[in-house]
Amino acid sequence: MGMIETFRSVVQFREFELDGTKRRLSRTADVADLRRAAKRRLPFGVFDYIDGGAEDERTLDRNSTAFGRVEFRPRVLNDVSKVDTSTTLLGKPVPFPLALSPTGFTRIAHSQGELAVARAAQRAGIPYSLSTMGTRSIEEVASVSAGTKWYQVYTWKDRGLVKEMISRAETAGYEALILTVDTAVLGRRERDVRRGYTLPPKIGLDTLLDGMIHPGWTKDFLTHDPITFANVPPSSGASDGSSAVDLAGFINSQFDQALSWGDVDWLRSVWAGPVILKGIQTVADAELAVKSGVEAIALSNHGGRQLDGAPTPIELVEPVAQAVGGRIDIICDGGVRRGSDIVKALALGATACSVGRPYLYALGAAGEPGVDHVLEFFRSGMVRTMQLSGVRSVEEITRDLVAWN
Ligand SMILES: Cc1cc2nc3c(=O)[nH]c(=O)nc-3n(C[C@H](O)[C@H](O)[C@H](O)COP(=O)(O)O)c2cc1C
Repeated sequence: MGMIETFRSVVQFREFELDGTKRRLSRTADVADLRRAAKRRLPFGVFDYIDGGAEDERTLDRNSTAFGRVEFRPRVLNDVSKVDTSTTLLGKPVPFPLALSPTGFTRIAHSQGELAVARAAQRAGIPYSLSTMGTRSIEEVASVSAGTKWYQVYTWKDRGLVKEMISRAETAGYEALILTVDTAVLGRRERDVRRGYTLPPKIGLDTLLDGMIHPGWTKDFLTHDPITFANVPPSSGASDGSSAVDLAGFINSQFDQALSWGDVDWLRSVWAGPVILKGIQTVADAELAVKSGVEAIALSNHGGRQLDGAPTPIELVEPVAQAVGGRIDIICDGGVRRGSDIVKALALGATACSVGRPYLYALGAAGEPGVDHVLEFFRSGMVRTMQLSGVRSVEEITRDLVAWN
């Protein structure tokens, strides 16, 4: 056999994928790969705004590394030929227990922003949360997705404005409200401080250079309609975001630092559907949340972007589930990077998980197909983990499936 034949016999060439996005996605194996791809495509300031956390970023790091301390106790010879990941969340069936957390300014990752993420969530059959600080409106998102949508509320000092947004969400068919309770003031995100980062990004000499070395993003940014706070009516006197603001100054002047448990009652009086309190960080507050009558809590430190040194969601799941499990849905939000993390959170007592950065990295790296890719990565990872650990249904994911080490 000649050299060429020998070579041919041992090397099988993959068919060359002509679609560049598909080609890139087929080589991204996990969320860390998507993060690296987003880092290459996005300007430094945009990437750091998405990727960064508060102060020393200790909480940000611990949110995901803490999952590494949870170890499986897999069972074998359990016939895992059929595995069912479906369960219920807020009383509704979901194909697998994952929700997409609200993220402000989603369009800085990609011009399709919230619309792309909402469409991908609908295809996967999972809930999508639109942020008050969203860059597509309540109605625009509803017009592209008939899937389950939740609206996240930040409380402006002007309650009339909040009430107006809530009634728009109701009219547009959003099914639940998320009240974020960890943002009395904005956390100090020091990467943004160092870069003098504003939202939307201001074009200065430094950003011009940054834009030139990231031409894909820059073309997308410059050829689409400007990024604005699509849900904040200009009549409110609040900035609509069309001129660059420093986020901390804006939020600290507009959001109500006097927010308290009484406001949860107020929210109830203007909204008939389910309420999720997002940003619960202690067992004591989880108990108060049950007393306040909300349907769900998200154990969350805002992805490590608010209080550095806050407790890690996965470490809170078990004590909170012991105190209030069964009386309220518990969502583990922060640091979830694999399907196996979802299984771990469920074993410790969570009802579901939610993710922010994973879909933002995917969107920044590859647009809407990137979001489809990462959602399928989570779903298939959950299936595989269940098969390898010997459980066939969400009911079978019980406390004895995992141990802390
Ligand atoms: C870029 C970015 C913007 C965010 N904006 C909001 C927001 O507007 N409202 C909110 O409640 N949470 C916001 N969050 C927090 C997320 O909802 C979620 O709690 C967090 O991303 C979960 O952690 P993970 O990124 O590790 O998945 C934001 C997070 C990121 C990364």
